[in-house]
Amino acid sequence: MEMKKLTLLLALLAAALSISCSDAAIRTQLTRADAGRGLTRHQLLRRMARRSKARAARLLSATGSSSPATASAVPGMNQPLDTEYVVSFAIGTPPQPVQATLDTGSDLIWTQCQPCPSCFDQTLPYYDPSLSSTSAVLPCNSSACQQLPISSCGAHSLGTNTCVYTYSYGDKSITNGLLDADTFTFHGDAAVPGLSFGCGLFNNGVYSANTTGTGIAGFGRGALSLPSQLKVDNFSYCFTDITSSTPSPVLLGLPANLYGGATAAVQTTSLIQSSDNPTFYYLSLKSITVGSTRLAVPESAFALANNGSGGTIIDSGTSVSLLPPLVYGQLHDAFVSQVKLPVTSDEPLCFAVSSAAAGKKQEVPKLVLQFEGATLDLPRENYVYEMEQGGQSSMCIAVMSSGGDMSIIGNYQQQNLHVLYDLAGNKLSFVPADCDKV
Ligand SMILES: *[C@@H]1O[C@H](CO)[C@@H](O)[C@H](O)[C@H]1NC(C)=O
Ligand SMILES: *[C@@H]1O[C@H](CO)[C@@H](O)[C@H](O)[C@H]1NC(C)=O
Ligand SMILES: *[C@@H]1O[C@H](CO)[C@@H](O)[C@H](O)[C@H]1NC(C)=O
Ligand SMILES: *[C@@H]1O[C@H](CO)[C@@H](O)[C@H](O)[C@H]1NC(C)=O
Repeated sequence: MEMKKLTLLLALLAAALSISCSDAAIRTQLTRADAGRGLTRHQLLRRMARRSKARAARLLSATGSSSPATASAVPGMNQPLDTEYVVSFAIGTPPQPVQATLDTGSDLIWTQCQPCPSCFDQTLPYYDPSLSSTSAVLPCNSSACQQLPISSCGAHSLGTNTCVYTYSYGDKSITNGLLDADTFTFHGDAAVPGLSFGCGLFNNGVYSANTTGTGIAGFGRGALSLPSQLKVDNFSYCFTDITSSTPSPVLLGLPANLYGGATAAVQTTSLIQSSDNPTFYYLSLKSITVGSTRLAVPESAFALANNGSGGTIIDSGTSVSLLPPLVYGQLHDAFVSQVKLPVTSDEPLCFAVSSAAAGKKQEVPKLVLQFEGATLDLPRENYVYEMEQGGQSSMCIAVMSSGGDMSIIGNYQQQNLHVLYDLAGNKLSFVPADCDKV
């Protein structure tokens, strides 16, 4: 009895200590970049496909595994790249709202910043550091500045010791400005002082004009990302349906109850780190099955090579999943041989649906991704979409070729899943969920 009490007391004490010296616990909301812009479902899906391609070019060139020719051969590359899920928070004292794309494929947090000599249009006012009593420009010998892949000591009205950053993406998008620190305020008034972020003065490339987004929130594994700076052990998100306007939750350093409600078992697989590309969350994908066909590709087609090329990452900033061309070819052929409908396009793969059958859900083989220790058995709505164009109904498969040797699990395939990144334990877990109830 006494012993039990003591144990309980110690446990409570430990819990209290770990709460008091910890680390932010934050719950906030995501909205889709296209939400509320009056786009039809067809327009939404078109934009999504385009963005995924642009994104692939960017990620592949970040790993050096794509030739420039591959990147420039991607169709629609000059189109806006605004990825899907935007996280809302505020910077400064008093707080100024920003909305940044949640991006597990990069680290830097940045937002467009006054005086903004070269910025794209955004719906919110530009963040203005001169209106914040807690804003600070970081010196170039600060540890945050040293973490940047490219930085310099700039001459600035605030002194010559100013950290000037340049952060570029493989699709030639670039943000350039000063590395600042300020207080961030999240949904529910959780305020965290002294977070480093890019005050983006020159932002050029395939960012979207008049988007709800004002920048990018890097959620990668590097030191400058939001989870790293908040020193959380884990984060999780649950993307509501891509065409719904219901906000999605994102939790940082909070107990994510993956076991509540859902009857399906929680699936867990290892997160793999690469010193060549320390930002990315690599997974060990073993095989892909389309209906009765297991694609005849060796595991090495999905694996991270010793030289840092290849591999499979999970990425919140890509919408449609992307596979190496050879694997995509096999997936294409497996669907074609099992779906008894005429093919209208090879990438994305679409089938004609007769007008008599339009509106009815066509039979489609199951798509299953087998990871080390975990199975992602995709529900139909996570890889099939129907559309109407010029009086023709089609049914399409939301997977495309990456044009390189990398595989990317995009957010289309993560809809209605609660996905937990356990950074302390190097594990990724997911479970089907009603995201508006998480
Ligand atoms: C940065 O440089 C300044 C002077 O140039 C110096 O006073 C300061 O201690 C340095 N800070 C760090 C973190 O090295
Ligand atoms: C953005 O919106 C503003 C105001 O509605 C408009 O003047 C501007 O042309 C738009 N820019 C683009 C690129 O659509
Ligand atoms: C996530 O981290 C928080 C804070 O460290 C912890 O309380 C919680 O149990 C973790 N959740 C999971 C699912 O690991
Ligand atoms: C990296 O390794 C892979 C597989 O071993 C090989 O196919 C590729 O050519 C290598 N790439 C470079 C740039 O050395």
